[in-house]
Amino acid sequence: MLASIASRGTQQVWTVPMKLLHLDSSIQGDASASRRLSAAIVEQLRGSDASLEVRYRDLAAAPLPHITLPGLAREAAVSVLDEFLAADIIVIGAPMYNFGLPTQLKAWFDHILIAGKTFRYGEQGVEGLAGGKRVVVALSRGGIYAASSPMAANEHAEAHVRAMLGFIGITDLTFIVAEGVAFGEEVRAAAMEGALAEVKAIGVHAQAA
Ligand SMILES: Cc1cc2nc3c(=O)[nH]c(=O)nc-3n(C[C@H](O)[C@H](O)[C@H](O)COP(=O)(O)O)c2cc1C
Repeated sequence: MLASIASRGTQQVWTVPMKLLHLDSSIQGDASASRRLSAAIVEQLRGSDASLEVRYRDLAAAPLPHITLPGLAREAAVSVLDEFLAADIIVIGAPMYNFGLPTQLKAWFDHILIAGKTFRYGEQGVEGLAGGKRVVVALSRGGIYAASSPMAANEHAEAHVRAMLGFIGITDLTFIVAEGVAFGEEVRAAAMEGALAEVKAIGVHAQAA
């Protein structure tokens, strides 16, 4: 890991570059809305902090296996968890497929929600152990699932991500959403424009822990 000395007033302090883990999971390649948004988020964060160390994982191009108990103990699975644990910021490209997450992305979550590592049960109930990380999710949906929409009850992508990350203690969570992207070119363009404008407002901020 690189480290450098930065001046803060008269003090010199060691600064360690923050690590960013960038995940994509869309099967739609260059036509993917979530890939475009997640790339824009990473670019925006890099613009705010050029020292960010970025790792990229394409869960569609290189899918993780479905979990098994023996498999979770193997080195390949442990390294997926370690990569997550080492990251300060995680940017997730999350398309809605069949009202939920792509199985490729669910498989990644299955690798990081690990008892004793990212959460534990105690006398007070569950305790998240992965707090202090920042997560930005680029979510794209073909339809519209706003609370006022009749489709709202079918939204299981954003809700699932919120539940899983909340469970492991992550509170610094931002969603950039483009929805209605299947409702024709005009609606898609407006949704992407709106989401990309929200990306421009994202900056690097200090970690909570
Ligand atoms: C396999 C598949 C399933 C989909 N299922 C839904 C769905 O249940 N609800 C919805 O609103 N849109 C659905 N869509 C549309 C996607 O949400 C939309 O294409 C979105 O842009 C996906 O993100 P991506 O472009 O990054 O792949 C589906 C698309 C695909 C390819």
